[in-house]
Amino acid sequence: MPVAKRGYWAGVLLAVSLAIAQTGARRLPGPIIAGEGELFGGPFAVNVGPHSATVGWVTGNTKTPRAGKVTFNNLQPGTRYCYDFQADGKTIEGSFKTPPTGPAPFQFVVYGDTQSGHRVHRRIVDAILRTKPDFLIHTGDLVDNGKKTSQWKKFFEIERALLRSAAFFPAAGNHERNSPLFFEFLQTVPYYSFDWGSAHFTILQTDFENIPDPGFWQRQLEWLEKDLAANQNADLRFVAFHRPPYSAKKNRGINPNTVKFVPLFEKYNVTAVFSGHDHAYEHFLSNGIHYFVSGGGGGPLYDVDAPLPGITLMLEKTAHFLKVSVDGKRALLEAVTPGGRIIDHVELRG
Ligand SMILES: [Fe+2]
Repeated sequence: MPVAKRGYWAGVLLAVSLAIAQTGARRLPGPIIAGEGELFGGPFAVNVGPHSATVGWVTGNTKTPRAGKVTFNNLQPGTRYCYDFQADGKTIEGSFKTPPTGPAPFQFVVYGDTQSGHRVHRRIVDAILRTKPDFLIHTGDLVDNGKKTSQWKKFFEIERALLRSAAFFPAAGNHERNSPLFFEFLQTVPYYSFDWGSAHFTILQTDFENIPDPGFWQRQLEWLEKDLAANQNADLRFVAFHRPPYSAKKNRGINPNTVKFVPLFEKYNVTAVFSGHDHAYEHFLSNGIHYFVSGGGGGPLYDVDAPLPGITLMLEKTAHFLKVSVDGKRALLEAVTPGGRIIDHVELRG
């Protein structure tokens, strides 16, 4: 074949393989086998990056739960991966998408405080499923008591279809009680960060009451500064954690612990901050940074009738989640009720 023709066909093959990498689904080797015992939770995709991902699960019973995982490497960015998972003699199909590495559009969802509000939690899960997000950020208080395995079982049951369709990035809430179950089941750590496309995401631990060691908080603060400083080239920077720095719930107001993050958010041009803890929707704008409280995932709703002067944009006592569509340096955020009513919408710019 002439060199020019070879070059042409190589170009076609490259274009086809790139198209598969960006849009087509691939199948992971398998099946993944859970092993002995009843399936307690999962499968779910966590720690998902452009080239690797972990599929996790929990088997056993509430007295002796066992967390399992398989990590897959050499994955392609921006690609949906399907997998077969075998447990209890049944085969389950799950999938997740890996992040693109360039400025490709994507969509994610933020929700929080699912706790023990199972009826609302189910409605939130159903509504999120309809939006087909690429990944999920949970702002904490997944369950009411993170030390109770029965509550994790219920959480996983309600989240089953959602966690089998999108990568999951949780932040620990105070109701997780710094329990090892949270970290073992979800294969996670107290604070971490990841990139999705050209956006950077930082997840923090804010359970000050259950972690008495001041050294932990100093280490996290130092890590946060390094993480934000190292990601100044990202088009957008988002930070998520449980306890909001600003709250319109009476007697909460400004949180003395998490407000310590604010100077770093301002110094390093954070685009938006997502929190939970208040069971309501709250939107503040302070020194150019949007602060969203999204704690409407199931827990009993709170009054938010103490707006902070000068920074409060919107407050509503309602169940909801946040849907965020990112395209380069712009993101459209909508706060949506399970019934589909849009409470608030805002364009965020990097
Ligand atoms: Fe909380």
